[in-house]
Amino acid sequence: MHDHLTLLRPDDWHLHLRDGEALRAVLPHTARQFARAVVMPNLKPPVTTTALAAEYRQRILAARPAGSDFEPLMTLYLTDRTSPEEIDRACDSGFVIGCKLYPAGATTHSDAGVTDISRIDAVLARMAERNLPLQIHGEVTADEIDVFDREREFIERTLRPLAARHAGLRVIFEHITTAAAVEFVQSAREGIAATITPQHLLYNRNEMFRGGIRPHFYCLPVLKTEPDRQALLEAATSGHRRFFLGTDSAPHERHTKEAACGCAGIYSAHAALELYAEAFERMGRLDRLEAFASLNGPDFYRLPRNTTTVTLRRTNWQVPQAYAFGSGTVVPMRAGETLSWQLVES
Ligand code: DOR
Ligand code: ZN
Repeated sequence: MHDHLTLLRPDDWHLHLRDGEALRAVLPHTARQFARAVVMPNLKPPVTTTALAAEYRQRILAARPAGSDFEPLMTLYLTDRTSPEEIDRACDSGFVIGCKLYPAGATTHSDAGVTDISRIDAVLARMAERNLPLQIHGEVTADEIDVFDREREFIERTLRPLAARHAGLRVIFEHITTAAAVEFVQSAREGIAATITPQHLLYNRNEMFRGGIRPHFYCLPVLKTEPDRQALLEAATSGHRRFFLGTDSAPHERHTKEAACGCAGIYSAHAALELYAEAFERMGRLDRLEAFASLNGPDFYRLPRNTTTVTLRRTNWQVPQAYAFGSGTVVPMRAGETLSWQLVES
């Protein structure tokens, strides 16, 4: 049994950093593990233009801990009104790495999202032409579709036709949660990839109801069945080059989750790599963690791989019950529990 695990420094290909005081609270957790992160644009108001992304990027850079060279990779939030010219500005900026498609109403701060994919057809065509990747929150929002079926339904109704129509477009199917999504990506053309979160590798949907209702296990897309989880574990640890790490770490203040109508989002940035290591170790595939965490993402995004390393050490440590977050606290994944891997501070 190994006591240390050294990997090329990983990147987080899907992250919510928020803004202001909240940003300052959570950024150090990500910056100590990851060299880069794809920063989600679902602020209020959303980051819909390159100009807004430039300002947000500056606020992130200013919030970095002293000495950190963490690099935020910015995304634009697509709306019904996004123009092809905005795609050109994004490409020319050098710091926008993709555009995010939120079907309107699918998740936190998605009200301004796209109401009908046909409305952004010219935008998607320009993205394909300029080689700008599309990040997708893959859930239908139709009321008659069961919440647990929304991802599977999205594949058939939207994603499969979209991937065929825009054959040159690179697409990241974000935070996949189902065996159906795994099968779709495995059999899809080149240029279709997926990110996988730690919570979807470590938990099935029973966890939300274990002994009572547990709001800190509520995220979107919602946790799925055990066979779905097994399919995700197989995919992540398979070495397949189009599956990679994206935590979807999404902090919310404690009282907004422990509420009659609680927010969706699980905070995992405090121990992201450790949580993935646990999942990979349970599969007996720790040797595949580096490909998933540090190689497949940059290769897909056509960015250089990182050159420095991080080391995890096998040691038990207790996750705090909460971390400071703005004027309140955020409850992290595994709060109060013991983890068996820990990042060695460099
Ligand atoms: O659980 C989630 N939280 N899923 C999302 O898609 C958004 C995120 C958030 O911003 O809180
Ligand atoms: Zn997200």
